[in-house]
Amino acid sequence: MKSVELYKIAKDLLPAGVSSPVRAIEPYPIYMKDSDGSKLIDVEGNEYIDYCLGFGPLILGHKNPKIMNAVIERLKQGWLYGTPIEEEIILAKLIIKHIKSIEMLRYVNTGTEATMSAIRVARGFTSKDKIVKIEGSFHGAHDIVLVKTGSGGATFGIPNSSGIPKDSVKNTIQVPFNDLDSLSYLLDKNKDEIAAVILEPVLGNIGVILPEKDYLKEVRRLTLENDVLLIFDEIITGFRLSLGGAQGYFGIKPDLTTLGKIVGGGFPIGVFGGRREIMENISPLGPVYQAGTFSGNPISLTAGIETIKILEDVLDEINKKGDFMRRALCEIVEDKNYFFSGIASMFQVFLIEKRIKNYTDAMQCDKNKYMKFFRRMLDEGIYLSPSQFETNFISAAHSKDDLEKTLEAYKKCL
Ligand SMILES: Cc1ncc(COP(=O)(O)O)c(C=O)c1O
Repeated sequence: MKSVELYKIAKDLLPAGVSSPVRAIEPYPIYMKDSDGSKLIDVEGNEYIDYCLGFGPLILGHKNPKIMNAVIERLKQGWLYGTPIEEEIILAKLIIKHIKSIEMLRYVNTGTEATMSAIRVARGFTSKDKIVKIEGSFHGAHDIVLVKTGSGGATFGIPNSSGIPKDSVKNTIQVPFNDLDSLSYLLDKNKDEIAAVILEPVLGNIGVILPEKDYLKEVRRLTLENDVLLIFDEIITGFRLSLGGAQGYFGIKPDLTTLGKIVGGGFPIGVFGGRREIMENISPLGPVYQAGTFSGNPISLTAGIETIKILEDVLDEINKKGDFMRRALCEIVEDKNYFFSGIASMFQVFLIEKRIKNYTDAMQCDKNKYMKFFRRMLDEGIYLSPSQFETNFISAAHSKDDLEKTLEAYKKCL
């Protein structure tokens, strides 16, 4: 069956025909049936060079043979025991080796659970209720962070979800990204009630928006001065910006960190971790409850271990591809008077003639114009992330030829 036919049937069975909102591309999404390296292959057999990469996890590309073999071998030993397993220790050691602020961690199944749990432990540890979040950041789909969110919230113009009691978000305060004055004022006035500031060090769910020089350093200084915890949500940037994540790249030490995506090698995972004295508050060691049937499952851990081991050798090379792509694309985009943004192997083109430094700026972009552009790129065999407010990624599997073909398509379609 063709994508258009499948979508028609799916719409009757699933809300908007999909399992997660940003996949609901109009007039119909492309149904994929296979993948290989840098390519996605749709149900009609068409190939696309993929820059969405499952929304970030597939930093080694599709069907990496080492990951596939490791997972197949692990499956043969079973896939769920409900007991501790050795892989929990192996992956924890790898994460702690690279992400310098993490001394102890817990596994969960998604990024959503990771940020939910990190916020809970921050509140438990500080005995304070309020949290500060950045406008346009996305920390998953749980109640306390679904206020002015990026990702699907921004794409579909529903930044604040309905179905969330006012009481659940009354302790969530927003500040604009790259605005130290607002944050400083807020922390000064409310420090006795604020448990933590949570932020994506590079905003990756509203396109790519970079922190201005010294912004993160100042956020760290302000949080320390006011006795407020700092949570870095590195679910996109972890093991992508550097092996030490964005915190390694920018040289900042948060109190807590959330990871996901890459750290499960393409299988479901979330991780939250940080300073030992905070993490020791987690149940059953401490009073902050957190649990999960599938947490620390052998398949995600195996894929994560293999991925990090491979990245230790190839991340520099991926970032060099990123440098090449960003430099070339930046020229093309500036020539058309649009705004280009990117870092390491993340990039996005904002179809607007101004610099984007926060959520308010990004919301001025024409989403529909972007989707027209997205469709044109599809016709050229390029699968970008399907929203102005998502990020494109480069993987180890992208060849020079892929990148050059993509640059030609950008020139044509912009
Ligand atoms: C920065 C960030 N935090 C949290 C999440 C939620 O992760 P998950 O979709 O695995 O629940 C995402 C998902 O895109 C994310 O980008």
